[in-house]
Amino acid sequence: MSKNFKRYTVTSALPYANGPLHIGHLAGCYIPSDIYVRYLRSMGRDVAYICGSDEHGVAITIKARKEGLTPQEIVDRYHEMMKGSFKEFGISFDHYSRTSAPIHHETASGLFRDLYDKGEFIEQVTEQYFDEEAGQFLADRYIEGTCPKCGNERAYGDQCEKCGSSLSPTELINPKSKLSGNTPVLKETKHWFLDLAKYGDFLKQWILVDHANDWKNNVLGQCRSWLEAGDGLQSRSMTRDMDWGIKVPVEGAEGKVLYVWFDAPIGYISSTKEWAAEKGIDWEPYWKDQETKLVHFIGKDNIVFHCIIFPAILKTHGDFILPDNVPANEFLNLEGDKISTSRNWAVWLHEYLEEFPGKQDVLRYVLTANAPETKDNDFTWKDFQGRNNSELVAIYGNFVNRAVVLTHKYYQGVIPQRGKLTGYDEEVIAVLEEFPNKISASIERYRFREALSFVMEFARLGNKYLADTEPWKVIKTDEVRTATILNIALNIAANLAIVSEPFLPFTAAKLFKMFGLEKMTWNQAGNSQLLSAGHTLGEMGLLFEKIEDETVEKQVQKLMDTKTQNEAANVPVTPMKDIISYDDFAKLDMRVVTVLEAEPMPKSKKLLKLKVDTGLGHHTVLSGVAEHFDPAFLIGKQVTMLINLAPRKMMGIDSEGMILMAEDKDGKLKLLQPHEGTASGSTIS
Ligand code: 2FM
Ligand code: ZN
Repeated sequence: MSKNFKRYTVTSALPYANGPLHIGHLAGCYIPSDIYVRYLRSMGRDVAYICGSDEHGVAITIKARKEGLTPQEIVDRYHEMMKGSFKEFGISFDHYSRTSAPIHHETASGLFRDLYDKGEFIEQVTEQYFDEEAGQFLADRYIEGTCPKCGNERAYGDQCEKCGSSLSPTELINPKSKLSGNTPVLKETKHWFLDLAKYGDFLKQWILVDHANDWKNNVLGQCRSWLEAGDGLQSRSMTRDMDWGIKVPVEGAEGKVLYVWFDAPIGYISSTKEWAAEKGIDWEPYWKDQETKLVHFIGKDNIVFHCIIFPAILKTHGDFILPDNVPANEFLNLEGDKISTSRNWAVWLHEYLEEFPGKQDVLRYVLTANAPETKDNDFTWKDFQGRNNSELVAIYGNFVNRAVVLTHKYYQGVIPQRGKLTGYDEEVIAVLEEFPNKISASIERYRFREALSFVMEFARLGNKYLADTEPWKVIKTDEVRTATILNIALNIAANLAIVSEPFLPFTAAKLFKMFGLEKMTWNQAGNSQLLSAGHTLGEMGLLFEKIEDETVEKQVQKLMDTKTQNEAANVPVTPMKDIISYDDFAKLDMRVVTVLEAEPMPKSKKLLKLKVDTGLGHHTVLSGVAEHFDPAFLIGKQVTMLINLAPRKMMGIDSEGMILMAEDKDGKLKLLQPHEGTASGSTIS
């Protein structure tokens, strides 16, 4: 650690309380921050690990409108659900608050007011889209239109999900309000802008120079593109026209609330205040003491406001420390496609918990081993199965299991005395002593994938040690040597438990129990005599189990079904024809009829000649369905027919009506049948 900090404030992005959590959330910032914090605690550091639900923002009002509920009802539902999922996955926040908490409203308003009083905001009247029918200004997400970059017809006012471009609503071609479907009009409105250009030099020095070597490249890259943009840093509005959120605490700001850029990050401070008050301690050192290391874990979509806007706010206020690091991850995709709540393209945490009970660590493992640390990555069920079966089961679980089982078998679960060490034993012990440092170094540089690969390498070392020394053979000839081997193997396993804990907390807890030990800490790791001879192991337990093909195939099928549903929902629907009067409709005589005979028409590829029972007698109809149905298939079927269509002569035959069919998007015809048998001639109305 370059500098020894007195305490740590670690935050994870406040997730929007507008839906359940999925694997993208975990991989983006909650697992990485949890690993970091568990490691710090294991090192005996003073940490505040802070998060909470972001209960404001337009996504919540959209969801509420869709479900016919109030925004409050939506956030109450998802706040509890998200809090529960985090807990189940072992995300060990010290405090999980919510932005609807009074302390947050107070804190965010207070900070806004402080900056306002110092004259830091530029009040500016701009033109924004307004929905005249709904009588309100439209947040970016309430406007949809065609993306000017890729032509996607369903781009949002702030972003095109198809090509990933950031947009502003006025760039959209053919914008439409999502509230009424109408074309919105531009109307003047006043907002409060933070003059970011003022901070340009400071931010350039602080980020691009002072942190050039310790911030991640993806983070520096995004900051650079903002800071070095040709026209400099633009001022950004910190307020929005909306009725859900924190009211702008100044005169003349009715109907305006603080924007997420101002609101959400301040949620970290309010959550810390709430936590400290509950513990009866002072919150201020966690945000104001230079001896505190502040680290924000986020996803890449939040880089700008954690690296540029929030620091500018904190700096202007003057009392606060700035983040020491903002280790943002890129995005996780799922089976090659962008995770999307609205398209239900996700692995939902609450469903995973139901379908893979007790396997939280497997998901934590896979999401860390494959974390999108430097670039977007893909989660696949095949990879999930592979990593479980060939890494967790075959290496980690196998090693621990063999060491413990053999000790129970040969020594009744009592750790045997170590005898004279061989050169190989000494080599293995030397590696054991070094491993924790190697893992620490990676964790402290926010390289969790690398750190986990070292943990796995350590398990592999143990597995190889047993495979090479073969205690199950040696026991037949050399009991003293067997005792030494098992003593060393068990000590590798105990060290493995310590260094695994940040990554696989449930597994580590099981291991400590299997060793009959209280939880041990990082400072104890690297000791080859952690478990002393004579200590009795606890009860055996199962760490990991194989995941079968059919289990993952079921998950893949579930996603395929989602894809099919999405495709069906996206089929362009034929526009409605002109409105007709009831009298026009009443003229149609539609009946259920039964097909009595069906035969191909000579010289026609398309037509079948059908004889049908209309209840009024037998009628002949020529129907253009020859390419869709086998004549034999139709015989005996009940179908729907318009029987009073004027007869039409085709190929020398009078066709006395029309069989009605549904046509899908590929032009395939489907029979329209009553759901149960009904008398021929039953009327349809
Ligand atoms: O983008 C989001 O998910 C918002 N809820 C903001 C998260 S970052 C924050 F908490 F500062
Ligand atoms: Zn686009």
